[in-house]
Amino acid sequence: MPAEAGTRPALDLQERLQRLNQIGVALSVERDLTVLLERILLEARGFTGADAGTLFLVSGDHLTFAIAQNDTLRSFVGGRYGQANIPPVPINRDSVSGYAATTGEMLNISDVYDPEWQRFEGPRNYDRMTGYRTRSMLVVPLRDHEGQVIGVLQLLNAVDPQTRQVGPFAADVVALIQSLASQAAVAITNVRLIRDTEALFESFVRVMATAIDERSPYTGGHIRRVAEMAHVVAEAVNRCAAGPLADVVFAADELNELRVASWMHDIGKITTPEWVVDKPTKLTTIHDRIELLRARYVGFMQAARVQALEQQLGGADPQAVAAACATEIERLHDELAFLEKANNPGEFMVDADLERLRQIAARTYMVDGQPVPSLSPDELLNLSIRKGSLTDAERRKISDHASMTIRMLEQIPFTRKLRRVPEIAGAHHEKLDGTGYPQGLRGDQISLQARILALVDIFESLSADDRPYRAEPMSREMVLGILKKEVDAHHLDADLHALFVDQQLYRELDRIKAQMVLERQQRS
Ligand SMILES: [Fe+2]
Ligand SMILES: [Fe+2]
Repeated sequence: MPAEAGTRPALDLQERLQRLNQIGVALSVERDLTVLLERILLEARGFTGADAGTLFLVSGDHLTFAIAQNDTLRSFVGGRYGQANIPPVPINRDSVSGYAATTGEMLNISDVYDPEWQRFEGPRNYDRMTGYRTRSMLVVPLRDHEGQVIGVLQLLNAVDPQTRQVGPFAADVVALIQSLASQAAVAITNVRLIRDTEALFESFVRVMATAIDERSPYTGGHIRRVAEMAHVVAEAVNRCAAGPLADVVFAADELNELRVASWMHDIGKITTPEWVVDKPTKLTTIHDRIELLRARYVGFMQAARVQALEQQLGGADPQAVAAACATEIERLHDELAFLEKANNPGEFMVDADLERLRQIAARTYMVDGQPVPSLSPDELLNLSIRKGSLTDAERRKISDHASMTIRMLEQIPFTRKLRRVPEIAGAHHEKLDGTGYPQGLRGDQISLQARILALVDIFESLSADDRPYRAEPMSREMVLGILKKEVDAHHLDADLHALFVDQQLYRELDRIKAQMVLERQQRS
């Protein structure tokens, strides 16, 4: 349709609807709330020819300023343009935007200086402060799908694109602006819903991680440190421009997927019995059974003394009986000392030690006329652990956490962008040569993300400050030495390891630990 002289070049209705449609599509794909708000204002101004505009969002009983654009003043504030110090507007009938939010009505003002509109002082105050001259104003409430007002769009000064004159907002534009406002409201609501869902999931993930970490005073914070270290390594992979990893670039979604997988990698530990997680001595179940053993040996010694007394009363040579009793008690002391030593997980048990344990276990003492074995079969089994504190069954129980992680995560309906979380998290104990668990995956079956997780998981665990079965923390040198051996044994990825060592990424762990100490101090 040709434009008439002196009027706006009228788009016909179909063109306007088409433009509206395009705007609707453009708004619906935007996922960043700040960008979306900027876009809504820009599109609304473009659609109506407004020289300036402001967008407010409902927040409780007031409107908070989101963004403002003013072409004439070349003033753009809020959102990505930068902070603005604009106070919230109460939702009442005292201001134009408050009025629109309260009543849900659109205000179409041809001149804010008309006596009819004098009751709203805001536009004139704005003019006084900025030197701007507000004339026409279109104030549109943004309603969501439930009809709730979630914001207010305030458009100033409709400019005729040909004459550049400011006039009232054109009737045909006004008729369609509500549609644009609805699309904007839906887009804002969608972005907020997605953001809220993500935030909810995020907090769930962190609560679970904290619950697992808090079960052990020794591994507290392990998950967070692993998550942060995994990110450090992934970022280094993205940065590296030479070598075998130069072509690998993790997209933002992949980094996020790795982050979530890291936070959830040990989720299966929630099912591991507490005493197994940190089993400090071989005899520990819910408590350290060495106390039972000590009490039992005190009983044996008492029984030996009673027997000696009985023999003396029976007429035996008192000196010989006393000497035999002393020898027996000394032997029991010695045996108990051996058992106490054997209970220490740091003690490496040689064949002779195991044989002595078997002999001890085979012995039964009469206490109060009842036969009492020195060791129960389970005590023998636990004390016979050659190295560390865990029996094979307990070791399996711990390894179970990896398959449990997979089982648990597979039940979560992850979104498309997070669909590989179970695979990445569940493979953190897999080894490239196929000797890992739970699935015995090998080589290419283990993704690079899972390899990153495996590397930092081992590194973090070895770097723990304190472990019940370790006398003192390992030096960095020792930790890196073990890591190298793991690479040489084809357990860990050599390229990632090279990056880890060459770029001294391991140093980041110190920064993370210091940060966590600081946060703990601030909390207490
Ligand atoms: Fe694990
Ligand atoms: Fe772990």
